[in-house]
Amino acid sequence: MAETPTAAPESLLAAPDQATQQQITAEIQALHEESEARVANGEQLPRTLYDFAPYRSSILRHPTKNPKLVDPETIELWSPAYGQRDVAAIEADLTLQHAGEPLGERITVHGRVLDSWGRPVANQLVEIWQANAAGRYIHQRDQHPAPLDPNFTGAGRLVTNDRGEYRFTTIKPGPYPWKNHVNAWRPAHIHFSIFGSAFTQRLVTQMYFPGDPLFALDPIYNSIRTQKDRDALVAAYDHDHTVPEFSMGYRWDIVVDGPSATWTEPEEGEH
Ligand SMILES: [Fe+2]
Repeated sequence: MAETPTAAPESLLAAPDQATQQQITAEIQALHEESEARVANGEQLPRTLYDFAPYRSSILRHPTKNPKLVDPETIELWSPAYGQRDVAAIEADLTLQHAGEPLGERITVHGRVLDSWGRPVANQLVEIWQANAAGRYIHQRDQHPAPLDPNFTGAGRLVTNDRGEYRFTTIKPGPYPWKNHVNAWRPAHIHFSIFGSAFTQRLVTQMYFPGDPLFALDPIYNSIRTQKDRDALVAAYDHDHTVPEFSMGYRWDIVVDGPSATWTEPEEGEH
């Protein structure tokens, strides 16, 4: 299969000031305390702290103009279209895209896509992209000295079944450095996109792994205001879905709207 470039890693923009981790952690703590105080004062704050300074390029990464309503039918004349038959079952297994087996810890990640009433969201195009086990993306901007894996591209997709379920087989991604500050490392994560029923509805977020020691240090994870929302991005180890002699199981449900909605990236606005 041809190498498909995955999306740009977060290291596209090295911050010019290169603060220390200690400074970044102090900034995160101060902003969390400030937002908690404002909420305690009765202020309504968004679930994401925009212009979150510890995430140095965040100003470039969210809309600064008022959102505009668009006609989905007009968008569909231009945007990608797909159907269930366009997605092959094998695309949900990122370990089968090349002649050999990729290196690393094989995992299966499964869960359900749900709406705010807990109803399954069937027939959803779910796309994932991720670094390899060494923390390296196949992307020309990711040149840090970790090996590429010739047997791992790091992109997969599927369509949820009638019960809203999805299941990917892949390799546990490694943490990687990203130049936000000195010695900045992203916690291991898998990027997820849920397409919706039209391109204008696409939601993008990240799934993390339980117990990652980098959580407290990471400005992207901490730009999400509440611990509850941050926790909802962390998959649970699921021994019932660990496949004997084959893979570690993780479970992660995605709620696409309502008060329990899984946090998604600000590019798409608040829901
Ligand atoms: Fe990433």
